[in-house]
Amino acid sequence: MAAPGLRVPTILLFDSGLGGLSVLRELARQRPDARYVYAADDAGFPYGALDEETLIARVVAVMDALVNRLAPDTVVISCNTASTLVLPALRARFPIPFVGTVPAIKPACEGSQTRLISVLATPGTVKRDYTRALIRDFAGACRVTLVGSARLAPLVEASFAGDAVEDADFAEEIAPAFVKEGGTRTDTVVLACTHYPLVRDRLEKVAPWPVRWVDPAPAIARRTVSLIGPAVGDRMPAPLRLFSTGNPLDATLVGRIAGMPARNGELVPMPAAFA
Ligand code: DGL
Repeated sequence: MAAPGLRVPTILLFDSGLGGLSVLRELARQRPDARYVYAADDAGFPYGALDEETLIARVVAVMDALVNRLAPDTVVISCNTASTLVLPALRARFPIPFVGTVPAIKPACEGSQTRLISVLATPGTVKRDYTRALIRDFAGACRVTLVGSARLAPLVEASFAGDAVEDADFAEEIAPAFVKEGGTRTDTVVLACTHYPLVRDRLEKVAPWPVRWVDPAPAIARRTVSLIGPAVGDRMPAPLRLFSTGNPLDATLVGRIAGMPARNGELVPMPAAFA
């Protein structure tokens, strides 16, 4: 329980689907005492396919509804496709801290021996000016291969929905991230979509050779804790609350992925233009 007198923060995590749970499970390890809300804009999924104007408008509309209703202390945009585009609009609109999730290019390059790294993301993230700027500023002597997969996040959702997703499907999507060049080969792959760490064991299994997979979740969690402060207790005060825009999230499934109890999913009322 929280020590008397210390307020427990409410943290809202947001993604297009289940991917942001890879960040939530890490954050809950570092702040087990916080109140968590997880929201998915599943009616807009996959974000990787949306044009930039549409995506900004959607995320702002969902946030309007959620922030007004829940008054979170902090929001974590646990989606690379949204964070690489929408953070300036959100920070201008709401007077609360927003933590983003963006491709971990700097730590990937710093740790690479072969200086060949790949960024596995959605087509949206790969196209962003923001991602290009990260490469320009932080890739140093590394060569970066950008791989935007339109199918990988939907395959992850399908596998959690109970559909049979074959190893060959995952193998095909990650293959372009494995590059051989001048007698050397890729040694580091950045998981630059929050869906991908959820199936890391399957990606490892089908990878053409072993690589270091960089999952930004621990760093995002540390950044969030640095904003809200350290834990004041050791237990979650309430089960995870779930919101979505299309179909209510399955509390049992989400609870299993996130490693915490969850309440039945609720729907976010969206303006007619987005329904
Ligand atoms: N989880 C999201 C990300 O980190 C994207 C999935 C989608 O295409 O909606 O980029």
